[in-house]
Amino acid sequence: MDTRALRNTLGQFATGVCVLTTNDPDRGAIGMTVNSFAAVSLEPALVLWSIQNTSECFSEFTECDRYGISVLRHSQEALSNRYARSLEHTVDDGDCFVDSYGVPLIQGALATLSCKMSALHPSGDHHIIVGEVVDFESHSGDPLVFFGGAYSRLD
Ligand SMILES: Cc1cc2nc3c(=O)[nH]c(=O)nc-3n(C[C@H](O)[C@H](O)[C@H](O)COP(=O)(O)O)c2cc1C
Repeated sequence: MDTRALRNTLGQFATGVCVLTTNDPDRGAIGMTVNSFAAVSLEPALVLWSIQNTSECFSEFTECDRYGISVLRHSQEALSNRYARSLEHTVDDGDCFVDSYGVPLIQGALATLSCKMSALHPSGDHHIIVGEVVDFESHSGDPLVFFGGAYSRLD
């Protein structure tokens, strides 16, 4: 199969962009840019995302008890690039706050979800992580959109 062509085809599905965050015992908060986020279930409240098996953050996100999902605004493209950099996932001072569950979340995000680890499914070169939403916040504004391998915005 032509993997590049498949990637381009999958890229025709427009998504939002999130930064996933969790606590690392040694490094403190870590963050990783993700567009595989999706809603799963309302009752119970479940969401999913997938992490590459080779990610430097793999053990932190697959072994943690809780993690955060921050949906980025259109104005937060720099944060998306910042937390997509290899081997540089320690969250910078000022980029995050900690919620009442001790979960780090990105400041000024369009929406935040505080999650408890619910299930982990190995799936090819990724693992699917299912989280139970225990808290959430939503604000008005424009989302950062990812489409065709590039950032975009809603017209
Ligand atoms: C828009 C965008 C979406 C991404 N979505 C995912 C994703 O869903 N899952 C994933 O594992 N990595 C995703 N990445 C890649 C990671 O953000 C990051 O670049 C990669 O984890 C870096 O390698 P490392 O984790 O080994 O440091 C995405 C990157 C970008 C820019």
